[in-house]
Amino acid sequence: MPNRLASVRVLVVGAGAFGREHLTRLARRPDVTLAGVADPNPAVLEMARSHYGVAICRDEPLRMIQETEADAIVIASPAESHVEICLCALQRNLGVLLEKPIALSASQAAPLLRATQQSSAGFVLPGHVLRFSRDHARLVEIVRSGLIGEIVYVNSRRYRDDSHATRYRDTDPVFMTLVHDIDLAQWVTRSSFRSVLARRSGGDGFRSMTTACATTRTGVTCDLRTAWTFTNGDLPADRLEVVGERGSVELEVGHGLHVYAGGRRDDHPLVEADDALSNEHDHFLACVRDRSLARALDLPEAIAGLKLADATMESLRLDREVAVSP
Ligand SMILES: NC(=O)c1ccc[n+]([C@@H]2O[C@H](COP(=O)([O-])OP(=O)(O)OC[C@H]3O[C@@H](n4cnc5c(N)ncnc54)[C@H](O)[C@@H]3O)[C@@H](O)[C@H]2O)c1
Repeated sequence: MPNRLASVRVLVVGAGAFGREHLTRLARRPDVTLAGVADPNPAVLEMARSHYGVAICRDEPLRMIQETEADAIVIASPAESHVEICLCALQRNLGVLLEKPIALSASQAAPLLRATQQSSAGFVLPGHVLRFSRDHARLVEIVRSGLIGEIVYVNSRRYRDDSHATRYRDTDPVFMTLVHDIDLAQWVTRSSFRSVLARRSGGDGFRSMTTACATTRTGVTCDLRTAWTFTNGDLPADRLEVVGERGSVELEVGHGLHVYAGGRRDDHPLVEADDALSNEHDHFLACVRDRSLARALDLPEAIAGLKLADATMESLRLDREVAVSP
């Protein structure tokens, strides 16, 4: 475990589009040393060397993890590689920031939980970055204040352009983008799910609209939607609406946070220049320095989200409502 004042030695695995978002932020932190980068793409490694001055750049993550002294790791490689790389990092007792989706099914993620419970002194912070967005946190705070009463309904939408279908051709939109909406619904309702009815319509394959109407174990209906059908350019903003017994609150990301309660509408200012990923790094690094710190979310919660993702896929396949495994 690092000395509280020493810089945290961080490895980064996968330095593609999102890995670079991590690298850029980590590189400018005075409390972090970039200890190594692994990516099979030589051009990416050259970029890590020349742009970020990383000395240890490897084309294979497992050996790098085994051979490099480090305190923590950010795993931002494609989803199908997450579990193997994360297990290796846990063997080295590292703190792991594991990008979403942490795995491509709940059962695939189960060994991670076993490792953290039985054999590793490391931990996993699932990379559900919206937990660290101050506007989302403000919405959750308003809900928790009781102003809108008990939650009865959640609606979350996330529309992306159709280049997603090419960029992420191996990862279903349910695991790639709906997983954010699933996590938001779990966060705001403080519940996992008991059933889901999903539909996919529009274009072929992933170039389509996916809707999941899920019910939490506490009985809240959640309408979750993601579409990879839009032309690049102006897209409808991501939006999260929570309806309670006495009002509602809705966040239109980048546009406004509106509360309807007591017969009036209040518009709350959005946080300027908020950077959820930097906030996530702040929290992750604090957890690396002090492993007893309560984490913003933990593996069991991310795995509960994957159970809903699994059931959503099953519902799409069977074309009927499906129970979510406990
Ligand atoms: N939290 C978010 O909002 C958010 C946003 C975008 C992407 N992501 C996640 O980040 C991860 C990467 O997405 P991306 O958009 O950067 O994809 P990308 O395709 O742009 O980059 C992936 C990188 O990983 C490298 N790679 C492939 N296999 C590898 C392996 N076995 N070990 C190490 N590196 C490997 C590739 O060469 C590439 O450079 C995904 O899990 C994705 O879901 C999260």
